[in-house]
Amino acid sequence: MADWFGVAPEAEFGPGSRTTIDVDGVPVLVLNVDGEIYAVEDFCTHDSLPLHDGSVEDGEIVCPFHGARFCLKTGKNTAPPAFGDLPTMPVKIENGIIFVRDARWD
Ligand code: FES
Repeated sequence: MADWFGVAPEAEFGPGSRTTIDVDGVPVLVLNVDGEIYAVEDFCTHDSLPLHDGSVEDGEIVCPFHGARFCLKTGKNTAPPAFGDLPTMPVKIENGIIFVRDARWD
């Protein structure tokens, strides 16, 4: 099982916070949306462009390039022009630190 990667102290990552970290060579976007922490690959499945500047609406991230939408909880693609789902990463908080794990090889 892959290692957990530290993201930030929970106390410094309040609602509205977002960052992109490198997880085994994959950029992972971590967001706090209304107190819930989500982690998704920072690549839109349409044209492999970064999602980190996208807006968040109704629990979905909107690609800033062509408007594809993805559920942050499940990664499911909910609007074209992308059709592939977005890989999500498990999140945990331990001793006040937010961690994500690369689950691609589970
Ligand atoms: S790169 Fe995201 S919708 Fe085109």
